[in-house]
Amino acid sequence: MSGLLDGKVALVTGSGHGIGRGHALELAKHGATVIVNDLGTSLDGQGTGKVADEVVQIIEDRGGKAISDFSDVGDEESVDLLVERAYSQLGRLDIVVNNAGIVRDRAIWNMGVDDFDLVMRVHVRGSWLTSRAVARKWREESKETGDKVYGRIINTTSGAGLQGHFGQTNYSAAKAAIVGLTQTLSLELASIGATVNAISPGGRTRMSATMAGAAAPIEPDERSEDEFDPKDPSLGSPVVAWLASPEAGHVSGQVIKALGENIQWLKGWTPISAVSNGGKRWDANKLGTIMGVDVFGTRASGLRLGG
Ligand SMILES: NC(=O)c1ccc[n+]([C@@H]2O[C@H](COP(=O)([O-])OP(=O)(O)OC[C@H]3O[C@@H](n4cnc5c(N)ncnc54)[C@H](O)[C@@H]3O)[C@@H](O)[C@H]2O)c1
Repeated sequence: MSGLLDGKVALVTGSGHGIGRGHALELAKHGATVIVNDLGTSLDGQGTGKVADEVVQIIEDRGGKAISDFSDVGDEESVDLLVERAYSQLGRLDIVVNNAGIVRDRAIWNMGVDDFDLVMRVHVRGSWLTSRAVARKWREESKETGDKVYGRIINTTSGAGLQGHFGQTNYSAAKAAIVGLTQTLSLELASIGATVNAISPGGRTRMSATMAGAAAPIEPDERSEDEFDPKDPSLGSPVVAWLASPEAGHVSGQVIKALGENIQWLKGWTPISAVSNGGKRWDANKLGTIMGVDVFGTRASGLRLGG
């Protein structure tokens, strides 16, 4: 054990399978006591199960410390109780990794409103609820001691949220919202010393296995650390462990793509061209040329933008 996270208590939501399972194993390896939360639900959010127990068992067999939790991250009361339980049973909660997720993919004309609501509920409301519960605790602690706290929140976005993906209007909207949540929460928690970042992970999980042609999922404990497989969903987990560690106290409000052996620092929505009308209102009749030439720079070639 490296001790990078010795003495820390971490909650990883949806850590029964896939990417979250990799995070839970990684955080435990570095000395954190991990709350392995998982509702044990299907890929599209139906049913419940006790898969979290399996992960706790693996961590304990490897000499680490973990407890399981089967709460639904979209349920306010359960999430508040889960955070209370961390404090009453483990004495603290230093790290929250919001990873739980489901998909209900369909082109928008075939998508039901329940497919939209449930995906938003797990990803957005789920990440917001855990964040609110722990932020209240950290703020209380900071007020009592008059000092900064040790606090790390790591959210999970995705390429679909950052660039869009056909058939995932619900999921992309949720994953983009998580970036907004990350940036705003980072501002709100800065004064008490907590950091909030997001990762964009990947790997062959049961979620990505739904994409056409994808092979069977890989569970992180099926691979030894010496056996490199670019599709191993736990390859981004060292980045999560580092963001959760004292070494990353200066990093907040950032989005990091942690995919395979690659780490990319992403920046979105920076202006790529700009025009100003010198203190006057624009005239829509005159905007065609200005937009084509000065803003998009495409008029000459007649290129379509996007899609
Ligand atoms: N797999 C990829 O390539 C990929 C790419 C980008 C982002 N992501 C994101 O990574 C995260 C993990 O995805 P994965 O691929 O490992 O999927 P997965 O299906 O293997 O794991 C998701 C886990 O979340 C749990 N879960 C679902 N709803 C829950 C709820 N309400 N409360 C608690 N737990 C719940 C599930 O039971 C499951 O164990 C998700 O947020 C996903 O959007 C995945």
